[in-house]
Amino acid sequence: MSKPSPQKPRVLLGVTGSIAAYKAVELTQKLKPFAEVRPVLTHAGSRLVPEKALAKASGFPVWTSLFEGATPIPPGTPGGSHPLAVVPHIEYAKSADLVLVAPASADFLAKLALGLADDLLSTLCLYATCPLWVAPAMNVKMWNHPAVVQNREILGKRGLRFLGPYSGHLACGEVGDGRFAEPSEIAFQAQSYLNHRGQWRGRKVLVTAGPTQEPIDPVRMITNRSSGKMGYALAQAALNRGAEVTLVTGPTRLIPPPVARLVQVETADEMHREVLRRLSASDVVVMAAAVSDYRITQASPIKIKKRKGGVTLRLEKNPDILADVLRRKKTLQTVVGFAAETDRLEENALAKWKRKPCDLLVANRVGKGGRGFDSDLNELLVFSLKHKRPIRFKKDLKSRLAEKILDLV
Ligand code: CTP
Repeated sequence: MSKPSPQKPRVLLGVTGSIAAYKAVELTQKLKPFAEVRPVLTHAGSRLVPEKALAKASGFPVWTSLFEGATPIPPGTPGGSHPLAVVPHIEYAKSADLVLVAPASADFLAKLALGLADDLLSTLCLYATCPLWVAPAMNVKMWNHPAVVQNREILGKRGLRFLGPYSGHLACGEVGDGRFAEPSEIAFQAQSYLNHRGQWRGRKVLVTAGPTQEPIDPVRMITNRSSGKMGYALAQAALNRGAEVTLVTGPTRLIPPPVARLVQVETADEMHREVLRRLSASDVVVMAAAVSDYRITQASPIKIKKRKGGVTLRLEKNPDILADVLRRKKTLQTVVGFAAETDRLEENALAKWKRKPCDLLVANRVGKGGRGFDSDLNELLVFSLKHKRPIRFKKDLKSRLAEKILDLV
């Protein structure tokens, strides 16, 4: 007798009225090899993608209305004064492994932020207890509208995961943030999450991210071009695996992932203190922050006034946080360091690895022509104690690279 095939994880795919709705068909096809996909279409979504196409791609009927398929309670059932007994999609939401709203329109983000339940999809989003992810797609002006920014913040704080949007050419002809994440990227993230969820449960992960800022006076500072995207992607990837994540971050413009502890710092000194305080309780330490190597010897308490001639700033060394972490590292701890290089990537990174022998050293090119800083993409060279040669990860989204780095951890 053949064994019954294991049940595939269940993904409830919400499709809303964004111009990218037509890509939901391709997304369904990409999710289907590893998940059972049940599409839920909003009224506006149904104007942009044919129900039939989604049904064909998923192999299931598309749910559009709250009362569709409800089984009436037979007359005379005790206590059965309510007209409905079982509503199949509500039952399904109970057992879903992931609710994915892709694309998510500005309107739908607003509904989620308010907790409205005036159609099937918004009701299911309130009802489901599994993780809820959104992949927004809209015009750049909408994405940056204060109302949408506020809703994004509310949802981020509530623990929703945002996939994209990315920057680039938009359907309306404008250029900017608002591009729907590629269906292959969304499917990759969903698969990673569904495959790895819970694998790192009980593991404590400490991640540093972003730049540090060293004050010159109350209005000026020394900093660098790090956006924090790589560190935040690593924190999110560790969360996907069920780890307890602490994120120690310098100032960034990003919405932080819903980590257990978010520690916001400005200077290298503060980051040094916060990392060392938490080091002994961490199993994995990922040092993705671009820490300023120097600080002003004596920052002025008042604004430095313009004078004739130049100004000389005296700098002194900041602590090397990674070096201190390695000095205190216990055998069972895993430490991942980064190397940001503008030139001779392999040679410089190797020299750095010898100076700071972490379990993994992730090297990337920064500066002109490099992708490391302030980009959604990166390409990496990873030195690992377990591999003879450095491993090359080709140009890819930071979210995908983060998963690959954690696979090596
Ligand atoms: N790092 C750190 N503390 C510092 C400087 C760097 O913890 N004061 C960490 C970074 O988080 C990264 C690694 O060390 O994981 C390498 O950082 P990078 O800036 O590439 O190199 P540096 O060691 O600062 O050397 P250099 O600036 O000469 O390239």
